[in-house]
Amino acid sequence: MNEFATRAHKLRAQLNAHSYRYYVLNAPTISDGEYDLLYRELVMLESEHPELVTPDSPTQRSGSDLSGDFAKIPHPAPILSLSNCFSESDLTAWEERNLKLLSADTTLTYTLEPKLDGLTIVLTYENGLLTQAATRGNGDVGDDVTANVRTIRSVPLRIPVHPDGPPAPEKLVVRGEVLFHKRDFAALNQKQAADGLPLYVNARNTASGTLKQKDSRITATRTLTAYIYAVVQAVGISLDRQWDWLNYLRDMGFLIPPHVGLYPTLSDVIQQLPTWESRKPTLDFEIDGVVLKINDLKIAAELGFAGKDPRGATAYKFPAEEMTTQLTGITVNIGRTGKVTPTAQLEPVFIGGVTVVSASLHNYDQVARLDIRMGDRVIIKRSGEVIPYVIGPVTAARDGSETPILPPETCPYCQTPISKPAGMVDYICPNRVCPERVFRSIEFFVSKSAMDIEGMGPQTVKTLIEKGFIRDEADLFSLQREPLLELEGFAAKKVDNLLASIEAARQRPLGQLISSLGIDGVGGVVANLLAEAFVSMDGLMSASAEAMDDLEGIGTVLAQNVVDWFADPDHRALLEKMRAAGVNMQNTPREAAGDSLTGLTFVLTGTLPTLTREAAENLIQSHGGKVTGSVSKKTSYVLMGDSPGSKAEKARQLGVPILSEPEFLNMIGSASSAADPTQPTLF
Ligand code: IVH
Repeated sequence: MNEFATRAHKLRAQLNAHSYRYYVLNAPTISDGEYDLLYRELVMLESEHPELVTPDSPTQRSGSDLSGDFAKIPHPAPILSLSNCFSESDLTAWEERNLKLLSADTTLTYTLEPKLDGLTIVLTYENGLLTQAATRGNGDVGDDVTANVRTIRSVPLRIPVHPDGPPAPEKLVVRGEVLFHKRDFAALNQKQAADGLPLYVNARNTASGTLKQKDSRITATRTLTAYIYAVVQAVGISLDRQWDWLNYLRDMGFLIPPHVGLYPTLSDVIQQLPTWESRKPTLDFEIDGVVLKINDLKIAAELGFAGKDPRGATAYKFPAEEMTTQLTGITVNIGRTGKVTPTAQLEPVFIGGVTVVSASLHNYDQVARLDIRMGDRVIIKRSGEVIPYVIGPVTAARDGSETPILPPETCPYCQTPISKPAGMVDYICPNRVCPERVFRSIEFFVSKSAMDIEGMGPQTVKTLIEKGFIRDEADLFSLQREPLLELEGFAAKKVDNLLASIEAARQRPLGQLISSLGIDGVGGVVANLLAEAFVSMDGLMSASAEAMDDLEGIGTVLAQNVVDWFADPDHRALLEKMRAAGVNMQNTPREAAGDSLTGLTFVLTGTLPTLTREAAENLIQSHGGKVTGSVSKKTSYVLMGDSPGSKAEKARQLGVPILSEPEFLNMIGSASSAADPTQPTLF
């Protein structure tokens, strides 16, 4: 055997074994992303060396989800799967291959849809009535899950749903995807937790299990959603374009995937890919890519198939976000509040373009709930800018040598016994002078998002604590030039720069000082509200919870938090020490730049192209507008940048208008780099 044949043989054996674990044992040991990588390597190898294709190659079939528990339903046409592309050049090559098979003057337009990470469902409507619902099965026959599908609220039992929709055709067989919305999956897990039952890890597998419940009453208690995106068979209606079918399906009352678009060229589609990647975390369901479909269905049909995949459509897959790797150790972090956080140490693993060596485990309750053990193979997720985290163990990969992970009995930094306050999920080191807690709070206090003391990095803070120069935040303001010069690595220039930044920090606005104190729930927005409402630190210190609660954007719990923080004698002493060191404790009203935003409330999300968060907040406030932290019906605009959070999705749900930075700058009449050129052309 040559080297290619050996590799192909090995890949086939691996893929078939993983496919058996996934479909038959329901106990996969690798992530979908890893399977894709292996599968793709085999596809490449076989396309370059077609003589290596064997009848048992996993590329020669497209899987089966059939189970013995259901009656079988034959599909009126094969339920096919899609080829995958992983890069721009894959997409261009796909189009070039297609163009070669078509007459020279052909131009191709495309629909672009999210690739929903759920389960395929095939619904049959006869004269408007839902008569059958089937899973994909082996592509030719599916499991009859009609009773279960009837419990899904987004599936119309009769079409058209609105009396003024298009008339029901004699027969319509549609294809779509069943999935859990993230919030519904979270609600299901909350219920599991409340009932003391194990949590579900994977939304897609849980959706599959739910759809294949033998007792449809169980399905009915869980909220699944069905998005419909294609027509498999139609009698009494015929349309020539995918875009027209999508509109037809929507008019019939089906839920079609959001953000679908029609684009005149492949390069327009490619321009949309970054938008889709940044949109992904804002969606209320998981997608693992987007689907490109040639809009003209006659052309798509003419192109036929490559193996089992239609040539007229393809999936562009985002870089894999989930991978499995070995858990090799746990490090224990102590935060500024004393919170004990375990972090997983991992055998290095490449996820979505980055090598990951550690991942968050949140807290020990989570570790226990997920039953993660030392030595486990674990599934790691890395999505967008979020810190990678452990989704759960691969229990099927255990060999019995794994050991439980327990919280430490004493703090690794000060040896104080670790405790767990009643009703809290976190373990804490209760020692307020624990060197690690002190380090973390000073590190936070000087950081860019707090007092912004330039040149005071974590290493400098560490040295100053170790050498006994500072014991708390207030000590920073009493540092003297001469003793600092004695320290190793503290040259005159460095010391002078440091002292200049500390001097500047002494004069920071009151709001900034308040937000740097690290009071639970008090970020920049709330801190500025407090500074303006109570004018001075003294005013705030003596304010009642009721007075704070009256401020818009501050609830009862937050108000009580603030009052409790200021009631603590240690905190009061710290502030007195700062005052004595000349730190500004007075609010200076900001200068008004205009009043074009008076009466308007803004919420910020994501990273703006040119403005920092603080600059954007200042601009809004100096033009008379208000900034709050969460989106509600009262929000006038959401100012959105790259990698926005869930706030953007909330805004869309509530119909709150979303502004880009240039649109915002236009609004206040500031210089702007003009409009957004990337709106899709919707025909
Ligand atoms: S079209 C021949 N459109 O992805 C047409 N599929 O990897 C093939 N999927 O089995 C299907 N979102 O279950 C299509 N907007 C979408 C989709 C989609 C998710 C699934 C589908 C298919 C799998 C292929």
